[in-house]
Amino acid sequence: MTARLTFALDSGALHLPEGRIAVFAPAPDMDLSKIETDRVEIISRFYPDVVLWQSRGFKVLQAPEGHYAVALVALPRAKDAARDLLAQAAACSDLLIVDGHKTDGVDSILKAVKKVATPEGTLSKAHGKIFWLAAPDLSDWHGTDRTTDGFVTRPGVFSADGPDKGSRALVDTLSPLSGHVVDLGAGWGYLSRHILGSENVTALDLVEADLTALDCARENVTDPRATFHWADATQFKPKALVDAVVSNPPFHVSRAGDPGLGKAFLAQAARILKPAGQLWVVANRHLPYEDTLATLFREVEETGGTPGFKVLKATKPFRAK
Ligand SMILES: C[S@@+](CC[C@H](N)C(=O)[O-])C[C@H]1O[C@@H](n2cnc3c(N)ncnc32)[C@H](O)[C@@H]1O
Repeated sequence: MTARLTFALDSGALHLPEGRIAVFAPAPDMDLSKIETDRVEIISRFYPDVVLWQSRGFKVLQAPEGHYAVALVALPRAKDAARDLLAQAAACSDLLIVDGHKTDGVDSILKAVKKVATPEGTLSKAHGKIFWLAAPDLSDWHGTDRTTDGFVTRPGVFSADGPDKGSRALVDTLSPLSGHVVDLGAGWGYLSRHILGSENVTALDLVEADLTALDCARENVTDPRATFHWADATQFKPKALVDAVVSNPPFHVSRAGDPGLGKAFLAQAARILKPAGQLWVVANRHLPYEDTLATLFREVEETGGTPGFKVLKATKPFRAK
């Protein structure tokens, strides 16, 4: 990812025309140092990436605005999300550049693009490819909403094809909650809708970094007790300490594995709970969350699960000194 754009520009194979450049969904390690910052508009809907690119001095938008000389797409792994981003990028630019890792399916996207247009250049480097072409008409690649089990989802959101097995295991185990509850990493609202099935819940904060998923959650959870936060769960602070936190935490950051992210969710849960508060969390059985929870809570127990997932309940957080 980092190397390919720089390599294509340095080699002289790729030439960027004058004008604005939209960069769609760049990973934090994408090297944009060869392009003047004030020509670039980052298009990102993932909150921590938005904050990061802003801190580097870039203008960041959640959707393209107007027409660009160039649109550069950092290929996401989900195929229909990739096709949708390419359709958006091609619709707003003259030159389309696609940069992707092999494991993100760049070869199959290139093959699909070749069915409608001819790339002007292709370079392979660092286990991936970068290719570019005059922006073709990809209007029939735009993603569409789906309805699954009574929930609306969109391409690229977590578990877009229906409720996740781990989340189902959590719903099967969760006791009815009461008071102020937070759903950390709420996705498109599967757990939240279940949580609100308890009439003793007085307020529910849905905290989600992916704006597309949160937009779906707004459609899926219409209960007036719900409040929606486009935010980083590892930094989220409610107005007052809460009675319960529920989470199916992510265990990787976009393309790179990072079990530390899930642990950061658990630590933030401990920080925002009342002294008698409870955290309900589901995780793949191989993730060593019990060790982390034991450093954060006085009581930790496994309350249920499946052969693949464990549901853990942790109560009485230690207060930071
Ligand atoms: C395993 S999914 C669970 C989604 C949903 N709760 C469910 O059960 O279907 C984890 C969610 O956390 C979100 N996420 C990842 N990093 C985040 C962060 N730093 N802050 C908030 N949400 C984040 C992901 O976008 C994803 O929707």
